[in-house]
Amino acid sequence: MSAKARGALLCVLGATGDLTHRKLVPAVAGLRRAGLIDGPLPIVGFARQQLDDESFRQRLRETVEGDGADEVIAQTVYVPGDMRRAEDYVALARRLEQVEAEHGPFAGRLYYLAAPPSTYTDIFRNLGKADLQKEQGGFRRIVVEKPFGHDLESARALNRELLSVFREDQVFRIDHYLGKETVQNILVLRFANGIFEPLWNRRYVDHVQISVAESIGVEHRGKYYEEAGALRDMMQNHLLQLLTLIAMEPPVAFDADQVHNEKVKVLRAIRLPAPSDVSRVTVRGQYGPGEVAGKAVPGYRDEPDVRPDSQQETFVALKLQIENWRWADVPFYLRTGKRLNRRASEISVQFQRAPQRLFPRETRLQPNVLRLRIQPDEGMTLSVGAKVPGMRIELRDVDMAFDYGTFGKPRTEAYERLLYDALTGDSTLFTRRDEVEAAWQVVDTIEAGWRQEEIGPDSYPAGSSGPEAADELLHHDGRRWHLR
Ligand code: BG6
Repeated sequence: MSAKARGALLCVLGATGDLTHRKLVPAVAGLRRAGLIDGPLPIVGFARQQLDDESFRQRLRETVEGDGADEVIAQTVYVPGDMRRAEDYVALARRLEQVEAEHGPFAGRLYYLAAPPSTYTDIFRNLGKADLQKEQGGFRRIVVEKPFGHDLESARALNRELLSVFREDQVFRIDHYLGKETVQNILVLRFANGIFEPLWNRRYVDHVQISVAESIGVEHRGKYYEEAGALRDMMQNHLLQLLTLIAMEPPVAFDADQVHNEKVKVLRAIRLPAPSDVSRVTVRGQYGPGEVAGKAVPGYRDEPDVRPDSQQETFVALKLQIENWRWADVPFYLRTGKRLNRRASEISVQFQRAPQRLFPRETRLQPNVLRLRIQPDEGMTLSVGAKVPGMRIELRDVDMAFDYGTFGKPRTEAYERLLYDALTGDSTLFTRRDEVEAAWQVVDTIEAGWRQEEIGPDSYPAGSSGPEAADELLHHDGRRWHLR
């Protein structure tokens, strides 16, 4: 991020949802503060509630915090309308033109889908019917929030609808993990340094772990979560995306298509387990009552809008194999869950032991592990064996560490980064059609196995590190999770 993005119109469909005040207004304010927008970037909110400009602004003022938010809110306007009704897009189109006439010229329009996924198809169609995708006097791009579909079939249908109105290069499918600094750094670490790439393969890597642990529960999203579960909510997108960045081949160039080409190859190389194998390579869990940070919390089944006999998983662990020359026989263990003992996301690459044991008691050393801490304590460490000072040869594991704090710079918020990229037309950190579909293919296969074999979730107490079966998944292979 260095060149300024030219001012544009940000049209938020579903503007009364919490994304606008939680993420979008703060992101616009952040980009302004950083001096990254050249010209105005007004928000045009569109949603069903009957509000006028001032009452919408008032709501935002009540909920948005942070420097510069007032200025962004002052430039925000609102159009009431039903996103499912084509007629209501006439008023929207008129208002967009008005704002352009008053505050323009703009580089273009960014439509941002912050509406419930069940409305997506209607929105695509209605934008098309009102010709709002046509690039008259500037770009027209669309940002689509997750979840993108519910399974492979629905994702395909959604892609078909979307791409019958917009071209792929106008589409920006969000996965906010890709906007995180530490996630972007994976590619820099791998491909801007000479020392890692030669080791980054089955000859030297023993296995890889990707853990995304959350301490929060499902909060007020019980209804959505009952449909989604951890596999769809986190694994299909964030964790599989992290996996692609760790496992992909070096792209020919750092541009969107080349990066996507390599990522999709990884997803397609994942071995799809047969239904009878699914119980061996997956773990499903659901949190029961427990304690998180010293506070008693209810179990998943007691959360609002959750069925008292729900079989939905709030935790999932997978053992995946990537069938290609680089990774054959190297297991990738992925796990994510809610109401765990901590909030932490981490990737660790465990290397193989030295081929010869030269020193006494060397067996006490752990193998070298490169740990990439995605959040909240951002940084990385490489553990190595070292000699403890003294006459005897005594070995101990020590960490070579890097902490993001070293830069002394505030980190760019993921949504700022992604909004900026969408405004400048760079889709590298978004997901392409084939990528989303390939990820669903993996998820669908696992789901089908769970269904066919009637695999329900194991209960784990809130505040624990997840179901025991997740530990056994690794113990069975003589390994253990690094993030405890
Ligand atoms: C969202 C999921 O995509 O990511 C949530 O829907 C989850 O369930 C969230 O809590 C986690 O994001 P982050 O950035 O807090 O790790």
